[in-house]
Amino acid sequence: MKDSQNSKVSADATRAITKGRTSAEHHGAVNTPVYHASTILHPDVESFEHRHDPSTDRRKVIYGLLGTPTTFDLEEVLADLEGGHDSVLVPSGLAAISVALLSFLRPGDHALVADTVYPPTRSFCDQYLAGLDIAVDYYDPLAGASIESLIQPATRVIFMESPGSFTFEVQDVPAITEVARKHGITTILDNTWSTPLFFKSFSHGVDVSVHAATKYLSGHSDVVMGAVICAEHAWEPVKRTHRHLGQCVGPDDAYLTLRSVRNLSTRLNAHHKQGLDLAEWLSHRDEVALVLHPGLADHAGHAIWKRDFQGASGLFSIVLHPKSRDAVLAMVNGMTLFRIGASWGGFESLMIPVYPEQYRTATSWDTTGATLRIHAGLENIRDLIADLEEGFSRLNQTLHDE
Ligand SMILES: Cc1ncc(COP(=O)(O)O)c(C=O)c1O
Repeated sequence: MKDSQNSKVSADATRAITKGRTSAEHHGAVNTPVYHASTILHPDVESFEHRHDPSTDRRKVIYGLLGTPTTFDLEEVLADLEGGHDSVLVPSGLAAISVALLSFLRPGDHALVADTVYPPTRSFCDQYLAGLDIAVDYYDPLAGASIESLIQPATRVIFMESPGSFTFEVQDVPAITEVARKHGITTILDNTWSTPLFFKSFSHGVDVSVHAATKYLSGHSDVVMGAVICAEHAWEPVKRTHRHLGQCVGPDDAYLTLRSVRNLSTRLNAHHKQGLDLAEWLSHRDEVALVLHPGLADHAGHAIWKRDFQGASGLFSIVLHPKSRDAVLAMVNGMTLFRIGASWGGFESLMIPVYPEQYRTATSWDTTGATLRIHAGLENIRDLIADLEEGFSRLNQTLHDE
């Protein structure tokens, strides 16, 4: 955590605790209870017939699908933390991405999508949007203001993800949003890596921020959820699409996520430290060719990360010097604390091989060694380093035996 930003972070930590709290409506209970509700009873026909009036309070409970106090409180705290106008909850991070894109794209439109997006975002664009006659071009995530040269008359959306999935390129978001605004193009950012705490999308000109709440927001590897947070001018199309597609989340998951958001700042600061400590340690290992962590001074995106972000989460990658597949498998399969699993952002450490070259079309990924994506969990750092040391011994031993 950068010292100069500590005051900002403590304000966030406070708001994570005070916003979206409606104890007075729940007998003083600190946590907003779980409302298992579909049908809502109305006192008379008149109020029933006026339940959808546009003047109806946003928080009024009229049908479970449209929200309960538990989901309203979570939506409020998430929007507040990122500096957005409002937010909606959806059943997964991928649903947040698809709802956001479908809110602003129509047949005949064109979208520019960062080459380094989460692979299912690509599949949604290539297979689903293409079927709606919506064209997608991928762009180099390092494009910055030069993205202007890729804009077509039909371009309606620029989609960003920063840092990029697997390879952690940091995008110049303010430069891109400035160009987009000039052309009346909506910008959507997958801000899952940072959460609303470490990257303030709306102060960098973003219109819509999407999150896999499955990761740090819920934070315990037991919830699948997404959130779409909007600037005021982008709110109506997102709210409408969310409604048309019948999206909602289960009340127990909303409760668990709201409970986790209360200590998000503490957890994220710990992941920040663990991730940086591990990345620095790994950068001194002979077996490691590259450490892809924007918090390291020699990372290509470090200057922009330092300028725009309030911290780093615990997810980063390393590229090994070339080794046999057997050697890499001996290392990863034998880890005891770094477990093999895809979905990150929980309390536990993870390590998986990833293959960025399979998902790049506008850029190339031509390193020769294996790329390993690491999630720094909350275990003791000395234990994590001991696990890595043993992993490197297996890697070297297997080479030796061949
Ligand atoms: C950057 C990013 N965005 C979105 C998602 C999708 O989240 P979910 O698994 O909740 O659909 C993921 C999942 O790994 C992700 O890494």
